[in-house]
Formats: sequence, C-alpha cells, structure tokens
Amino acid sequence: GDPRLEAISAAIRVVPNFPKKGIMFQDITTLLLDHKAFKHTIDIFVDRYKDMQISVVADDMQMIVGVEARGFMFGPPIALAIGAKFVPLRKPGKLPGKVISESYELEYGHDRLEMHVDAVEPLERVIIIDDLVATGGTLSAAISLMESQGAEVVECACVIGLPEVKGQHKLKGKPLYVLVEPSGLDEFC
Ligand code: PRP
Ligand code: MG
Repeated sequence: GDPRLEAISAAIRVVPNFPKKGIMFQDITTLLLDHKAFKHTIDIFVDRYKDMQISVVADDMQMIVGVEARGFMFGPPIALAIGAKFVPLRKPGKLPGKVISESYELEYGHDRLEMHVDAVEPLERVIIIDDLVATGGTLSAAISLMESQGAEVVECACVIGLPEVKGQHKLKGKPLYVLVEPSGLDEFC
C-alpha cells in the first residue's frame, strides 16, 4: 500500500477508555503534531479533489465543508489548495447570521448542526470533510444541510473510518472516502 497511509495511521494516538469506558478514542491531535503525516493527509485529499469533474458549474462553485470541531482542522488547508471556498458547519448558537439547522442522533440524545443559509448556492458541488466517521450521524446531518440548499454533495471524506462503516448506509447513497481504518476495534470515536 501507500506508505503515506502507514505514516498517517502511526501518527494517530489511540487512547483506550476515553471519553468513557470501552471507547478506543482516535486522537488526531498527534497527527497534527507530525508535520510529514499531516501534510500527507492534506496532499492525498488535495490530489483526489483538485480535479473534481466541473463541467457545468464554474471553478468558484467548488466548496469544502467542515464539521465542528475536528473537521475544521482538515477542511481549510484542502480548500485553499484546490481553490474552493470553506463553509463551517457549527454546533448550535455559534453562527451570527441566518441559519438552517439539522438534528442528528447520538448514542444518548441528539445534537444539532447549523449552517449560514447564504454560505451555499444551488448546484454548488460540495465535499464534506470530517476527522472520523463512526455511526455516520454527523455526516448525514451535514448532507441534509447541503441538500436543503440545493447543493450537490459529491463525496464525504474522513481521515478515519471503520472497516465496515456502519455509517455508510446513513449517507443517503453518497460516496464515502476514508484514509485509514483502525482494526480490531468494536467501538471508537
Ligand atoms: C466526533 C467526530 C465526528 C463524529 C463522528 O465529533 O469528530 O465529527 O464524532 O461520529 P458519528 O459518525 O457517529 O456521527 P464530536 O461530535 O465528538 O465533536 P468534535 O468534533 O467537536 O470533537
Ligand atoms: Mg466532530
């Protein structure tokens, strides 16, 4: 395989029993500390998305969306490199303008994501970036926000995904691209 993926995998710290017992936490802060591995991560996404088939829409209609908080660490460098705009999806009550919001399920209860309505225009082509997909609830809410504004979600992309991503069934048929898959973990986040 690609040795860059091994470097990325090795740079992610796995912390058992955080934030609670039984969870193998995938800590991407150690990836951010490793310049080479972080750069590989961004480079791989940039190579994949720099030539998105843009036939009907113009160049400036490319868009990278990141999900608070850990999606914000990967989305902006990719957006800058491919010449796309960056749109943050935030937890409730953080955005000052007119927002639309979408709820999603958590293990206990639910949470909400918000987006400025004037951030997106119909037919814009979107890649949604996050650090990790587990159940897919977060990405699914992000897809709904984009589609409610008429934008086209081309793909969802995460640094880390489960080998059999349960979340994929939740992603409304959208493709999911992940770089590394932790093995032998029942539960992680
Ligand atoms: C984590 C992670 C993903 C999401 C994945 O975010 O960063 O966004 O969970 O889980 P899912 O596929 O089951 O929805 P979290 O909500 O913990 O917050 P953070 O990014 O602000 O740390
Ligand atoms: Mg998150």
